[in-house]
Amino acid sequence: MNPYSKSMLRENALKDKVAIVTGGGSGLGKAMTKYFLQLGAKVVITSRNLEKLQETAKELEDETGGKVLCIACDVRNWDEVEAMKEATLTEFGRIDILLNNAAGNFISPTERLTHSAFDSILDIVLKGTKNCTLSIGKHWIDAETPGTVLNIVTTYAWTGSAYVVPSACAKAGVLAMTRSLAVEWGKYNIRFNAIAPGPFPTKGAWDRLLPGDMKDKFDLAKKNPLKRVGEHQELANLAAYLVSDFSSFVNGEVVTIDGGEWLQGAGEFNMLEEVPQEMWDALEAMIKAKKSN
Ligand code: HXC
Ligand code: NAP
Repeated sequence: MNPYSKSMLRENALKDKVAIVTGGGSGLGKAMTKYFLQLGAKVVITSRNLEKLQETAKELEDETGGKVLCIACDVRNWDEVEAMKEATLTEFGRIDILLNNAAGNFISPTERLTHSAFDSILDIVLKGTKNCTLSIGKHWIDAETPGTVLNIVTTYAWTGSAYVVPSACAKAGVLAMTRSLAVEWGKYNIRFNAIAPGPFPTKGAWDRLLPGDMKDKFDLAKKNPLKRVGEHQELANLAAYLVSDFSSFVNGEVVTIDGGEWLQGAGEFNMLEEVPQEMWDALEAMIKAKKSN
């Protein structure tokens, strides 16, 4: 068995919890949904494409024996988000977990973008997360019930990144929302945390960020300190922990899961990795020789 695909939490760790996973029909949203189901949660998956959601739901229900509700909902649209919340409450009677995972992204020099192309990413990522958080948060506050929100960001939410500027701006906003509401809504027993994943291959991300032969030219495994990309179960383990009661005192945190990738680009002398082992004796001698002068 792949050592990175083992599940972490004990059986029934999310028993009877109701989770909404935006963008739950594909990629990482699907992987997290599957694990939540295995841990006993009931999961609502949402996206713009109902057919895709229904295919995923059938596959995951067959695999896990869990219960999935599919709701078509464009997170950019407030009325659709409100309707999705109401449909969830009608079906399950409660909401415990909101996982803001839906996103849009593509690579482009920023000067090539139209103003509406820039908006389309901000609207999905930042406004979409705001819509779901405000809608479900208000419900929790009115109903005086606790809740937990997990936001999926990226490491460039704090470093920024060229060529994905709308996404970087939007994810930075989501991170600010996570930390701000962790404090403001703590009094309502609503927790906010975020995960910043490094590279976890998915069709949605790879088709838009590494199209054509770019995946071979820029092998993300090679530039990672651990020399590999992430396994979906590794992310699902962390997500399940952060939405479970085991993390009940963790609030306002962003957990990076990237094999050390972003720090690799940050440390001043990290490029010394390229110095061959046999050169270190000569380098040490040169440094010591200077010291004794
Ligand atoms: C320049 C582009 C473009 C591109 C679209 N546009 N793709 N501009 N380069 N590659 C422009 C369009 O011309 C249009 O401009 C505007 O953006 C909106 O495009 P539409 O196709 O009409 O929008 P829509 O159908 O709403 O689709 C949204 C989308 C699409 C974001 C453009 O890619 C999408 O549906 N993505 C969802 C899934 C996704 O992106 N997953 C990856 C997440 S990965 P005009 O001027 O005509 O309005 C991720 C990982 C980060 O976030 C970190 C990795 C390590
Ligand atoms: P993905 O499969 O493309 O996931 C994005 C999901 O968002 C899709 O299911 C998509 O479904 C949904 N979505 C897009 N626009 C929407 C809208 N307007 N309303 C509702 N749903 C919408 O890509 P992924 O790699 O799994 O990404 C999942 C999350 O991880 C994102 O937040 C991404 O930024 C983050 N992330 C991924 C990586 C990585 O390496 N994969 C790294 C860092 C962060 P529809 O198209 O059907 O609407």
